[in-house]
Amino acid sequence: MRVVAIINQKGGVGKTTTSANLSHAIAASGKKVTVIDLDPQGHLAVSLGIRTQQHGGIDEVMRGEKTIQQQIIQVRDNLQLITSGARLQEIEQLTENGTHRGDLLKNALQTGLEGQDYVFIDCPPSSGLLIVNALFATDEILIPMTSDFLALQGLSHLMGTVKKFEKVLKKQYTSWLVISRYTPNRKISRQVLNILLSHFPNKILATAIRETTLLAECPSFGKTILEYNPRSRSAKDFCKLAIDFMEGRVMYGKK
Ligand SMILES: Nc1ncnc2c1ncn2[C@@H]1O[C@H](COP(=O)(O)OP(=O)(O)O)[C@@H](O)[C@H]1O
Ligand SMILES: [Mg+2]
Repeated sequence: MRVVAIINQKGGVGKTTTSANLSHAIAASGKKVTVIDLDPQGHLAVSLGIRTQQHGGIDEVMRGEKTIQQQIIQVRDNLQLITSGARLQEIEQLTENGTHRGDLLKNALQTGLEGQDYVFIDCPPSSGLLIVNALFATDEILIPMTSDFLALQGLSHLMGTVKKFEKVLKKQYTSWLVISRYTPNRKISRQVLNILLSHFPNKILATAIRETTLLAECPSFGKTILEYNPRSRSAKDFCKLAIDFMEGRVMYGKK
């Protein structure tokens, strides 16, 4: 089982879009996938067509009140969702004996996900206790990146955080980047991608997800791109990305 945090402290970079569509594309290929909404905003559940108010979420599992099994929602064939729950935001502020608890999610995932091939965690755009929990719970991170100049700044900050964790937790993350909102006709996009390629060789997944209107539309219908428009180039991008991710296919050369 690969447990993967989809992470970037910047908002609007495509974490939730990647979480919903990549997990569905992998599930559609026959693998068993669980996706966890670790963002109190609950956008992942909405993107998958779930009304969050009617379900308990990961918040109660992290508090020790419920088990994972009790919170699982089967959302598609091979794809199950655990929503954020109404009280996830409070966990950012939770303290015990004056210390923040970083191991709540890790503990929550110990049992109940046997038989799953992939667990994706859709992280919030912050660098608080929820992110600490995500980094405790995983060995692998997937970073959605936009191809604008300021995104590079954000990435070096994120990589710094990850390095600190590696030191403290004495582990090494397998990290991947996905170009999540690619606009190939813009010069700056290609320039940023080339900078990324030189700094992170062997880490950028081979398929860049292009910016399209369809991808921006699907969340309002509670559908993934595979349902909303399965013949679109965006559906193809995500199906290719699914194989990239499963097989570790990365991008080479100058764009
Ligand atoms: N490749 C893309 N093409 C078009 N719109 C996109 C794309 N990726 C994300 N979006 C849109 O951008 C907004 C932010 O994306 P989202 O996945 O919610 O980012 P995050 O979870 O990082 O905050 C959403 O409205 C989403 O539909
Ligand atoms: Mg999000």
